[in-house]
Amino acid sequence: MIKFEIKGLEDYQNNYSKSVQNPEAFWGAIAKENFTWKRPWSKVLDWDFSSAKVSWFQGSELNITENCIDRHLENKGNKTAILFEPNNPIEPSEAITYNDLYKRVNRFANVLKSKGIQKGDRVCIYLPMIPELAISVLACARIGAIHSVVFAGFSASALSSRINDCDCKMIITSDGGFRGSKNIDLKSIVDTALLDCNGIESVLVVKRTNSEVSMVSGRDFWLQPLLDAASEVCEATVMKAEDPLFILYTSGSTGQPKGMVHSTAGYMVYTAYTFKNIFQYEAEDVYWCTADIGWITGHSYIVYGPLLNGATTLMFEGVPSYPDYGRFWSIVETHKVTQFYTAPTAIRALAKEGLEVVKPYDLSSLKILGTVGEPINEEAWHWYNNHIGKHKCPIVDTWWQTETGGIMISPIPNSFEGKPTFATLPFIGIQPALMDENGQEIEGNSVEGRLCVKFPWPSMARTIWGNHQRYKETYFSAYDQKYFTGDGALRDENGHYRITGRVDDVIIVSGHNLGTAPIEDAINEHINIAESAIVGYPHDIKGSALYGFITLKNPQDLSDSLKTEINQLISKHIGPIAKLDKIQFTLGLPKTRSGKIMRRILRKIACKDTSNLGDISTLLNPEVVEAIIKNSI
Ligand code: PRX
Repeated sequence: MIKFEIKGLEDYQNNYSKSVQNPEAFWGAIAKENFTWKRPWSKVLDWDFSSAKVSWFQGSELNITENCIDRHLENKGNKTAILFEPNNPIEPSEAITYNDLYKRVNRFANVLKSKGIQKGDRVCIYLPMIPELAISVLACARIGAIHSVVFAGFSASALSSRINDCDCKMIITSDGGFRGSKNIDLKSIVDTALLDCNGIESVLVVKRTNSEVSMVSGRDFWLQPLLDAASEVCEATVMKAEDPLFILYTSGSTGQPKGMVHSTAGYMVYTAYTFKNIFQYEAEDVYWCTADIGWITGHSYIVYGPLLNGATTLMFEGVPSYPDYGRFWSIVETHKVTQFYTAPTAIRALAKEGLEVVKPYDLSSLKILGTVGEPINEEAWHWYNNHIGKHKCPIVDTWWQTETGGIMISPIPNSFEGKPTFATLPFIGIQPALMDENGQEIEGNSVEGRLCVKFPWPSMARTIWGNHQRYKETYFSAYDQKYFTGDGALRDENGHYRITGRVDDVIIVSGHNLGTAPIEDAINEHINIAESAIVGYPHDIKGSALYGFITLKNPQDLSDSLKTEINQLISKHIGPIAKLDKIQFTLGLPKTRSGKIMRRILRKIACKDTSNLGDISTLLNPEVVEAIIKNSI
């Protein structure tokens, strides 16, 4: 029998071997013994990387919310499922039990149905980190509607393009959102977005801030009265294993964001299994992931993974700096948090504030610390280990992606420990490969290359919404028969992996993936701007920050306000997270003879690493490079 719980190094090694030697038997056993199915599968795995087709547990039927909620009611009905900590510490926290969650999800699901939402319809969710965000996600899943959560920091224009890309019929939002001392006017952002969206039939509005909002009659509805009128019983819709569960947009190195489609059964099995083992969740634990549900980390490790395990998952509405930089630690103390999962950016920002904001708090409840989203530098790792974990909490540096659905490379605390800056070993079932420049796999240890995965895993994204060809080209064309991650990695003498960063034009700023193309498109909208190129450079807190090299149509149009106007355009088209930290106006950009911008050179300039620019034999305009170096910031 294969146990859900990995028990030590030997067990990890045994399970890993089984998962690689006979993946179908391995995952079939995990799935059968640990979840509720309405009908068993006829085939565990079917796959073909050349056509980018993968299916897990084909033929089975289930509903993920029955696994997240219903099956826990008998023994854990009164256990807290979601512990909500509001932005303002004066407001009381709210403990939502599994019984409450069941009723609230069902009521919400009935409201969705009453507004005409059916299985397969897409529902956009644009909410702050309030319980209704998790509840609406689950309500969609309850009736088989496909949720598309858009992070509430995205602009109206980013929101409308995501709504239109997958033809959402409904959007769920709120009158506003509290973030620190700010009150974000979400409903008016939605109103602006909807000027460009013809497909939206109804807007459900959660009351959170009590701000004045305009409601369009016949389209916009306050949620609460509808919930009050709805039944608290809603039969779970029967879903096929491969029915899409959700769409989540992620930036690509070119073009518009990609709507990654995750399906039901494989995602369920893998997120539940990784959650249990990487965070070593035990019955009385209070688990807290500080991500926003607008990102994959929130989907998999605030909502689905924890609830599938019957865990208590803490949801925090606010920011680490409000009302002061001790807020995270005060929450840990108050709720006796046992597992704490955050991003290196947050760790660096908090470390900068000094120990005075940490010391007052009792962090002795903590057992495991996690990081995700970007490489963690050694200094931040040690600060986390010394001052938060006090040397007694293993740190899980978890490497994964929106596309992978679940954690792929990470320490497993009871089996093997972390090492600063290393994500360490592949999780059970994950078969990484490092590739060289000629497309060959690099065998052995103490090597570095491009990170691929050579065998399917249950929670991998199945396609890009509406564009399977792009999915195939982006992930399965760079290397034959392999999923290409877009990351570089090294494997040390013990076979442990260290992720070295993106090898494409995606830049990770404060843990957020940003593609350069949409930012450049936004900038180029300015009437005075001819061309732009964005690159990343190292930043103490954000990990990477954005550097823009910009040429004007007429150099005499350079004005004092231009930099502000550029960042306003970026905020309008994408959101404030994509604003440039440095802007350099230049008379030209380095180009190849065929007219391509040589970003490699700009990257070196932005990183102040100009002693060796590499091969510049194809460079058309070397004089431009000299001028850019001279005026670089
Ligand atoms: O470059 C890797 C980096 O984040 C990318 C994925 O970003 P996203 O899809 O937004 O998902 C983030 C949360 C899962 C990866 O391609 N990344 C993620 N985790 C790590 C990391 N880089 C280094 N170490 C990590 N632990």
